[in-house]
Amino acid sequence: MNKVICIANQKGGVGKTTTAINLAASLATAEKKTLLIDCDSQGNASSGVGIDREAVRTKNLYHSLIGRVPLKDVVVSTPFPYLDVVPTNQDLIGIEVEFINLEEREKKLRNLLKNLDIPYDFIIIDCPPSLGFLTINALVAADVVIVPLQCEYFAMEGLGHLLNTLKLVKARLNPALVLGGILLTMFDVRNLLAHKVSEDVRKHFGNRVFNTVIPRNVRLSESPSHGLPIITYDIKSKGALAYMELAREILADGRV
Ligand SMILES: Nc1ncnc2c1ncn2[C@@H]1O[C@H](COP(=O)(O)OP(=O)(O)OP(=O)(O)O)[C@@H](O)[C@H]1O
Ligand SMILES: [Mg+2]
Repeated sequence: MNKVICIANQKGGVGKTTTAINLAASLATAEKKTLLIDCDSQGNASSGVGIDREAVRTKNLYHSLIGRVPLKDVVVSTPFPYLDVVPTNQDLIGIEVEFINLEEREKKLRNLLKNLDIPYDFIIIDCPPSLGFLTINALVAADVVIVPLQCEYFAMEGLGHLLNTLKLVKARLNPALVLGGILLTMFDVRNLLAHKVSEDVRKHFGNRVFNTVIPRNVRLSESPSHGLPIITYDIKSKGALAYMELAREILADGRV
């Protein structure tokens, strides 16, 4: 049975894609068969694992969502033996409008995954920075949601809105959905504010915050431009160690 983990926060630039790519690559390194689904029209998760968005122009998540191509036919393998990807590109931008009058439109991705007859241990979904159609589809398809939170001043702003959305999705569309945890990202040890934010979040959310903290690490920001997860780009970097630790926490802990 696969475990579907969605990485969501409507706030932009908090580390969703970095987490999706590197958690997926770390799980794959632990020999867990993993599928990374890029659910953001920016296509950053796709290019971050080396996929040429032009090459998947006629076969990507968009074509599966509109029912033109089965999901298994848009799955692309990567140089990692245990990691596959469902890529996307800017085609996805207009899908919300295209589906506006469609019944059960929130369940599109869930139904695609239900019919995907490739066994995976983990499916990781990278969400766009909004609580629109694609994020709702991801939340409805997921077993667990991980919320990356950047350790900065406005970190908690908007979190209430996100947690409310989770509650609504749970009540109406996906009763089994679980908040796997809040993940502190881009933590800068020299920054006093980062320590304060981290303390506040832990005080407020207790054990719903992962023990693993992702440090601010320049190697993490460089790796996508090489189309490589951090584990291949620089396995000794603090960023690589942190994401491997996150995978270990998820595998050991049973909360996800
Ligand atoms: N731990 C980190 N250390 C340094 N840079 C990071 C770290 N995590 C992410 N970044 C960089 O910060 C930027 C935003 O990260 P990312 O794209 O993962 O966020 P996002 O939440 O997916 O953004 P969006 O909301 O636009 O989809 C990127 O340039 C990324 O390389
Ligand atoms: Mg992103």
